[in-house]
Amino acid sequence: MDYTNYGLQTILSHYAEENEKYLGAAAVPIFETSTFVFESYEDIDEAFSHKNKRYIYTRGMNPTVEILEKKLAALEKGERAKCFASGMAAISSAILNVIKAKDHVICVKNIYGPTYNFLSKYLTKFNIETTFVNGENFEEIKEAVRENTSLIYLESPNSLIFMLQDIKKIASFAKERGIKTIIDNSWASPVFQNPLEMGIDMVVHSASKYIGGHSDVVAGCIVGNKDIICRIEENEYPLLGGILAPFEAWLLIRGLRTLEIRMEKHMKNALAISEFLAQHPKISKIYYPGHPSHPQYELARKQMKGFSGLLSFEIDCDIEGVKRFINNLKIIKLGVSWGGYESLAFPPVISYSKEIPAERFKDYGIKPGLVRLSVGLENVEDLIDDLERALSKV
Ligand SMILES: Cc1ncc(COP(=O)(O)O)c(C=O)c1O
Repeated sequence: MDYTNYGLQTILSHYAEENEKYLGAAAVPIFETSTFVFESYEDIDEAFSHKNKRYIYTRGMNPTVEILEKKLAALEKGERAKCFASGMAAISSAILNVIKAKDHVICVKNIYGPTYNFLSKYLTKFNIETTFVNGENFEEIKEAVRENTSLIYLESPNSLIFMLQDIKKIASFAKERGIKTIIDNSWASPVFQNPLEMGIDMVVHSASKYIGGHSDVVAGCIVGNKDIICRIEENEYPLLGGILAPFEAWLLIRGLRTLEIRMEKHMKNALAISEFLAQHPKISKIYYPGHPSHPQYELARKQMKGFSGLLSFEIDCDIEGVKRFINNLKIIKLGVSWGGYESLAFPPVISYSKEIPAERFKDYGIKPGLVRLSVGLENVEDLIDDLERALSKV
């Protein structure tokens, strides 16, 4: 059955599943096998000649993973998708697929830390230089272009302070110059933002976040056109080997079934919490593209169909105050990661103070009182009470 013209929830529920092939099972099977066996010399010979699509070895392709990849491609409005063992495996593979030694990369500031490290530290081994720009300022991107610029890497909204890039404008500028574009779309999820439709070449996700949604799986994916994904399938996927295992793929297929309704609830809760925080006397600033106080609120409404549940806020206090706030939260748990069913708070000063000298906090837009909050699916009144109580102890 062709589901391509169906709505999102129907795609999440049924697309790419062929129940008749799985003895009528309603839930897709987990093909927990490393290898596939053949009946004869001729049979395996034909599989290797790629005349008919056959599964040979799970590092190349596995049926459970393939179902997930088809669903993700349909959700992101791309031709094909490839799944990886983590968001970072997907991100590093996507970047490596585009660049070669001595190329130049333009990347937005305040991206996810390990992506920053990959570009600014790891890739310098191959004489690849990266210029980090304020992504909200299109002129800075234009001015950073060099003759050897082969990639513009975006993350919109970016990490911690959630500034946006004008995706359509940057994608069309890059296309005119033959520069490839990659965007990390984990924040918005495929429900709220589809960058391929805006001209971006490759979308990457940490599927450990909203796509999985249950804080029980680490995974990633790349979505793009057939040519790009074919190249990745032949190179970075099997050669670097950061592939997704069948059980993790099955968990993600299960997570996807509720993606749309989860995103709606994350948004509803986060909008209410951002309103509560914006009016609280101890909060000096909130960072949430879904709140009218965000400097790019109009752009956010234009290029996203909704807003996820990840936001930050600054408590008007020092580190001691943040400690009191965190230690008095009862429902909201303390931890890294985000996008799960449960609300999680994290003060970025913990990770950044280990790596970045205090005087550079300002440049990164990070103040000691900054707290990141992944708003989960709990009853929002309980979350607001929890925040209120903890804030009263600051
Ligand atoms: C924006 C963003 N991109 C990518 C990643 C990396 O994903 P993973 O942890 O699945 O490797 C993260 C993880 O926190 C993230 O926040």
